[in-house]
Amino acid sequence: MDISSLLSYITDMSENYCTVLENLKENSHFRYIRDFEGKDEKYIYLNGKKLINLSSNNYLGFADNRSITGEFLNYSGCGYSFGSASARLLTGTLPVYKELENLISEMFKKEKTLLFNSGYHANVGINSSIAGKGDVIFSDKLNHASIIDGMKLSEGKFFRYPHNNMEALEKLLIRERKNFKNAVIVSESVFSMDGDIADLNKLTELKEKYNCILILDEAHAFGVFGANGLGVNETLGLTDKIDLIVGTFGKAIGSTGAFVTGNSTLIDYLTNKARSFIFSTALPPINIAFSKWIIENKLPHTFEKRMNMLAAGRKAGSESHIIPVVIGGNKETVDTCDVLFHNGYFTLPIRPPTVPEGTSRLRLSLTTEINEKELFDAISLVEQTK
Ligand SMILES: Cc1ncc(COP(=O)(O)O)c(C=O)c1O
Repeated sequence: MDISSLLSYITDMSENYCTVLENLKENSHFRYIRDFEGKDEKYIYLNGKKLINLSSNNYLGFADNRSITGEFLNYSGCGYSFGSASARLLTGTLPVYKELENLISEMFKKEKTLLFNSGYHANVGINSSIAGKGDVIFSDKLNHASIIDGMKLSEGKFFRYPHNNMEALEKLLIRERKNFKNAVIVSESVFSMDGDIADLNKLTELKEKYNCILILDEAHAFGVFGANGLGVNETLGLTDKIDLIVGTFGKAIGSTGAFVTGNSTLIDYLTNKARSFIFSTALPPINIAFSKWIIENKLPHTFEKRMNMLAAGRKAGSESHIIPVVIGGNKETVDTCDVLFHNGYFTLPIRPPTVPEGTSRLRLSLTTEINEKELFDAISLVEQTK
């Protein structure tokens, strides 16, 4: 290619990208990283304003909390490094990783646990490897992008059933189960954008009836639901019926990372086959130690606050601490966020492709630091702008 055709090729190419960005802007779909000035407790600072953060997954207030960070650093005495320098299967492991895995196994009364670098890594790694050629995955239509991405990488076939529709799932199982060797059902417990809860009783029944592996992603429920914070599986007493439970440390625990817990054959299989586990440098030891410290020392004292938070969510019409307020159009949703901003609240517009077209919304998420009055004041502001 001569220089002039190379230059015109580059110009054409960058024009294509510019067109995509212009289209995103026109449709109020454009994403950008905000310039926050800081965060603490329930507040976030933006454009010189102190705002109540109604868009955080810091459900128990452990992240961005200077006194908790200080207490942990004091306890750990900086005895843990800030880099693991290697994948777990190479040299990126130390006793604290196994200790955290053993702690999770004991809490859930499962045989074995495997840590991942994030919930995204966990879901991509699990769902891409659990079903091979001749196998099948049945996935709730509203499952998180990380589950969808995992299934897309899988050599197995996958079907998406209508959200939380157990009759539709059973019809699919009747039609398709016999055509495949291994079958997997995968669902979130608390759905991240809708705040509703999967029908776990029915899922465990169907999994047994049709001989499937059941994977439950408790990303938004681990640390929040259940007497010990194990998630919806604990609230419903179904922990032993679920084959693989995924939880994240980046939300209620206020740290980073994720785990999957289950029987040792499946966990050994994932250790050998989940590429997002095998081919990525392990999290820093300091993060692993922080997750373990929070779970052992802070989580056990949160029961009452967690239950109050869930009660406030129910009062606002949700089944959980995540309260969707569907506005519809993208622009109207962005405008509503602006109104809230000018009244002291930070909320984010949730738009397609994160949610289906025409259902753009505010996703209000509670934390134990936000009180009922603050929540209901925000909701009535939204109602006034509709
Ligand atoms: C249901 C669900 N699973 C997994 C993830 C990914 O977790 P992480 O943020 O640790 O990558 C998210 C994140 O938002 C989620 O909502």
